[in-house]
Amino acid sequence: MELLVNIDHIATLRNARGEGVPDPTEAAQICENAGAAGIVFHLREDRRHIKDHDVYSLKDAVKGKLDFEMAATDEMIGLCEKIRPEICTLVPESREELTTEGGLNMRLIMGDYRKRVVPRLLDTGTMISLFVDPNPDDIQLCKELGVQAIELHTGRYANAQKASVVEHELERLREAAELAHSLGLIVNAGHGLNYVNTTPFIRTVPHLADISIGHALVTHAVFHGLENSVREMVRIIKEG
Ligand code: PXP
Repeated sequence: MELLVNIDHIATLRNARGEGVPDPTEAAQICENAGAAGIVFHLREDRRHIKDHDVYSLKDAVKGKLDFEMAATDEMIGLCEKIRPEICTLVPESREELTTEGGLNMRLIMGDYRKRVVPRLLDTGTMISLFVDPNPDDIQLCKELGVQAIELHTGRYANAQKASVVEHELERLREAAELAHSLGLIVNAGHGLNYVNTTPFIRTVPHLADISIGHALVTHAVFHGLENSVREMVRIIKEG
């Protein structure tokens, strides 16, 4: 199990003043030096945080895994064909949302993904990971599409307040991970994981490969520094 750091919020901070700092690529290098196995970025249609030039610069600089999170538009698929990251994580995207709000609506996208999206991305040699809610039906559909991996959406677990809801969401994630693994899918996870909720998550949910964390790390870094924040999260994940 390894940590991939989502550096979108470094770009958000950079864009706040329209200047070059803090540079997401420099942040990526610090994260990797501190033990992250790779870097995630989400190039959104509206370019609200990561910009096109960041994508090329990250491609050059990142030594570990590069995970290109994107909506399955022709434009993004074209960029993925050029960049050839190790992983492409496909997510739903809407302009109004502050962050990705849920997993893919698998029933809705099946036809389009089967014809237009998956064959093109498989040709690039990139591992395709679909961001899904922990529903058995959705996971079965991922398998039917012939992708290699899923990323389990941990947002409901992370946002749950009542202990009974936390338990329920953990159980759903555990069962989803078991099912995906039994189908031969690689199991990644992310969204809303932080310095408190990551340990119970990784102690309960088996077969986890990459854990993608952004907001909690970058906000922690404001007080504690990026390198310390990544080191601390790597330690949490290793100790499990
Ligand atoms: N995984 C996916 C698919 C996401 O969209 C995000 C948010 O950009 C994350 C993981 C990371 O979530 P967070 O920033 O809450 O750690």
